[in-house]
Amino acid sequence: MNPYGHFDDAAREYVITRPDTPLPWINYLGCEDYFGIISNTAGGYSFYRDARLRRLTRYRYNDVPLDSNGRYLYIRDNDAVWNPGWKPTRAKLDRYECRHGLGYTQITGEKNGIEVVVRYFVPLGQTCEVWEVRVSNRGSSTKTIKLWGFVEWCLWEAMDDAANFQRNYSVGEVEVEPQAIYHVTEYRERRNHFAYFTSSVPTAGFDSSRNAFVGVHEGLDTPKAVMAGQCTNSIAHGWQPIAAHQINLELKPGQEQRLHFLLGYAENPQDRKFVPGWVRPGQLVANKAPADKVRELLKDSSAIDEAFAALRAYWADLLSIYSVEVDDPHVRRMVNVWNQYQCMTTLNLSRSASGFESGIGRGMGYRDSNQDLLGVVHLQPARSRQRILDLAATQLSDGTCFHQYQPLTKKGNRDAGSGFNDDPLWLPLSVYAYLSETGDTSILTERCGYPDKPQTPATLMDHLQLSMQYTLANRGPHSLPLIGHADWNDCLNLNCFSTTPGESFQCAGDIGGSSAESVMIAGLFCAACDRMTGIYEMINQPGKAAAFQAHKRDMLKTIEQHGWDGDWFLRAYDAHGNKVGSAQCEEGKIYIESQGWCVLGGFRDEKASLALASTKKHLATPNGIVLLQPAYSTYHVELGEVTSYPPGYKENAGIFTHNNTWIQCAEALMGNGDQAMAYYLAICPSKKQEQIDIYRCEPYVYSQMTAGPDAATPGEAKNSWLTGTAAWSFVAISQYILGIIPSPNGLVVDPCIPSSWKGFKIQRKFRGKTYKIEVKNPSGKSRGVKRLIIDGKETRGNRIPLNLGADIVNVVAEIG
Ligand code: GLC
Ligand code: GLC
Repeated sequence: MNPYGHFDDAAREYVITRPDTPLPWINYLGCEDYFGIISNTAGGYSFYRDARLRRLTRYRYNDVPLDSNGRYLYIRDNDAVWNPGWKPTRAKLDRYECRHGLGYTQITGEKNGIEVVVRYFVPLGQTCEVWEVRVSNRGSSTKTIKLWGFVEWCLWEAMDDAANFQRNYSVGEVEVEPQAIYHVTEYRERRNHFAYFTSSVPTAGFDSSRNAFVGVHEGLDTPKAVMAGQCTNSIAHGWQPIAAHQINLELKPGQEQRLHFLLGYAENPQDRKFVPGWVRPGQLVANKAPADKVRELLKDSSAIDEAFAALRAYWADLLSIYSVEVDDPHVRRMVNVWNQYQCMTTLNLSRSASGFESGIGRGMGYRDSNQDLLGVVHLQPARSRQRILDLAATQLSDGTCFHQYQPLTKKGNRDAGSGFNDDPLWLPLSVYAYLSETGDTSILTERCGYPDKPQTPATLMDHLQLSMQYTLANRGPHSLPLIGHADWNDCLNLNCFSTTPGESFQCAGDIGGSSAESVMIAGLFCAACDRMTGIYEMINQPGKAAAFQAHKRDMLKTIEQHGWDGDWFLRAYDAHGNKVGSAQCEEGKIYIESQGWCVLGGFRDEKASLALASTKKHLATPNGIVLLQPAYSTYHVELGEVTSYPPGYKENAGIFTHNNTWIQCAEALMGNGDQAMAYYLAICPSKKQEQIDIYRCEPYVYSQMTAGPDAATPGEAKNSWLTGTAAWSFVAISQYILGIIPSPNGLVVDPCIPSSWKGFKIQRKFRGKTYKIEVKNPSGKSRGVKRLIIDGKETRGNRIPLNLGADIVNVVAEIG
């Protein structure tokens, strides 16, 4: 079915059995402060906290071949030179396997009777990664082999590293000690951090100059030192510092040898940066103490095994918070493993570093990270709390938000433009999700302040109110919310009128007095009103709770009057007051976002049914639902970037999977369990194995988009990993379809499933208890739980009250 690999569900791994996957298939290392991306051929790079400001190793995006720098091991066995991960030599292997697991990747290569297994992971609590290597002689005679571990340093600031060569070629510095190479560029001046690459066993040589190890004219596939069979103990002065250790091994038949490399990041307090060196009097060198500590801790194989076991246990524990037993294998593996894993990745990295995000473009997005939280509050409540406060602290006192911020500094920037009028409204959604999960209303009185008025003691509650107020106060001629430079759809730029090649569509000049309005924001506002009502109910302020229901009713009325097109919801009004997403338009007659959000915002009537039927009729394809139809065939200055893409790609009628999930939720809300599941499966990565040569991206995580039928390459995915689809898919399946919904007053059981399902079982840890919930569907319906049997006692309704005595609560729910 998929010639490149398969799921190993029991091991929670994806196993790749051919290195030449249609695209590099990546994984992530690290879950705290130290991170890396790693491909199935060991390509990728690492960084400390911030992929732009603290990049440890160098990666050349868009290189030829794609993905050709990384954590490479070279093997030399007589004249054969090869890599266990196939690249960069691409020497033919007798056997290759890559197992991407949760926070680790293990690559096995075998050639001429030598098997090398390397497992890469970041130990919990450390700012380093381990490359644990096992070399075995599977042949019948003794083998003498040489092995090199290699990395290329990045001079910290990734953008500068890729551009400022006139300086950078002179600043590179290293220090070398037995079995250790330290990257200390700029440490002599303002940096208080360095990186290290160490070997656990004595080495037979090293190199720290790329010119010496690789050569000036050679490539990573034929590094000079490897081809010659010997490092030259080079010391880098400027140019490109690298770290390479050479290890010579002699292995008897059947013998296995273990060793490991550590690649890490260390910091010193300003007053303890230097210690006396031993080469000449008065010499000062970097204080290696923090690195030595880690090396000591991870000295031998048993320490490495323990660190790996702890990482496995960490993930097993996390995934025990929500798990399902259900017949459908796709639902099972996505819910129990991969979707939640991807959600954690978006929490960690927002949209910063992936195979498609260069780590220098975008930091943490305001709307993106707020939505990402929806998929992780159950897994990481404490970190979610902090993230919410960090995000709120980048909202300005006028209610607008910095669209993104750098994770290292937590300072917002306008690099991606500003005036995205949906931004503020995602905060009530993330805060409500956090409160429902934890009940921790103390977050509401936390002070976050405003970046433009640091003295103002604004609390999170102030930010929530300001967010709602912002929409209420910024409405257009039809009383619908003004769109600003764009709403969720970054590319619907109704006020920008960009005619200059290359300029950012979102940053292009405002035409002034912009009056373009968004129906999607209107729907989102209604949903946010419900969250605000819920929040005020939690803190016993019924008056304010009711006020938000009144705002919601008003907005629903406005949508009815001005946002309905006859068969579906309009998308927007442009700056001239013309309709966008209307049957009257020549192209772009119907858009997906407003259909989803108007139902999620409160429509449950014939309009909702009609909007969803129109979505199906005009937008649904076997690979998911396209964003709009018909695709725009020419550039429209009054619509902006959406019309810049060739038809079928990205926002111009691509299948943008993120918004597909809103339709899944909407179908579930309307009781259409069969349709909700059909849409779920249409974009499900695991299902894509059936057409992997067309799909091309990783079949274990969501991609931002799949090319639509208008495209030249329909069905081809792009921009895998860092997408809001992850969080929203988890919300759609766990809360709307499987229907286990955290609420301020306990778990609500309200599934909406395919009528053919006989039932399923969920384990859900919530507020200190474990709920074992069995849902039965004896009469083949989709929705409608009327009573629950909780620990043998019948309860009316579908909510499990909080604080029922035992630690384990057994619940049976029957649909019918
Ligand atoms: C990207 C952006 C996200 C935006 C979406 C639609 O995924 O990260 O913020 O909502 O595109 O344009
Ligand atoms: C989002 C969109 C992309 C657009 C970008 C602009 O990521 O998906 O198409 O180029 O926003 O900021």
